[in-house]
Amino acid sequence: MSLIDAARRVRETAYAPYSGFKVGAALRAPSGRIYAGCNVENVAYPEGTCAEAGAIAAMVAGGETEITEICVIADSPHPTPPCGGCRQKLAEFAREGTPVLLATLDGETLATTVGELLPGRFAAGHMDRA
Ligand code: THU
Repeated sequence: MSLIDAARRVRETAYAPYSGFKVGAALRAPSGRIYAGCNVENVAYPEGTCAEAGAIAAMVAGGETEITEICVIADSPHPTPPCGGCRQKLAEFAREGTPVLLATLDGETLATTVGELLPGRFAAGHMDRA
C-alpha cells in the first residue's frame, strides 16, 4: 500500500468530535514498514493528539526510531501543514531532507521536507555544554 493510501485509510479512524477535523498520517521507517496514526481529541484538551504524533508513537512502539518519509492527509481546501509541536517531533526522528507529503482528500499535494518545515531546529548538540 502507498503511504498516501495508508494515511487516507487511517484518517477515517480519527477521533475528532470537538474540531470535526480528521487527520491521517502514515510514515515509512527503514524496515520498509508503514506506521499510521490519526488525531485523537478529548474533552479536557480538545486539540488532542495530532495524527503525526500517533504515527510516531506507533513507529517507536514497533521498535523503530527513524522516519524515511511521511504523508499527512486532511479534508482541507489546501494541504494542511503540521503544527509547530509536530514539526519538532518529526525533526527528532528525521533528517533535514526527509520528504513530507501533505495532501488533501481532493488530491492536491504539497511536497516539502522536515528541514523546510523546521529550519534552525533545536537539536541535542545545543546542549553540549550542559
Ligand atoms: N491536527 C493534526 O492531527 N495534525 C496536524 O498537522 C494539524 C492538526 C489535528 C489536531 C486536532 O485534533 C485537529 O487537527 C484540529 O486542530
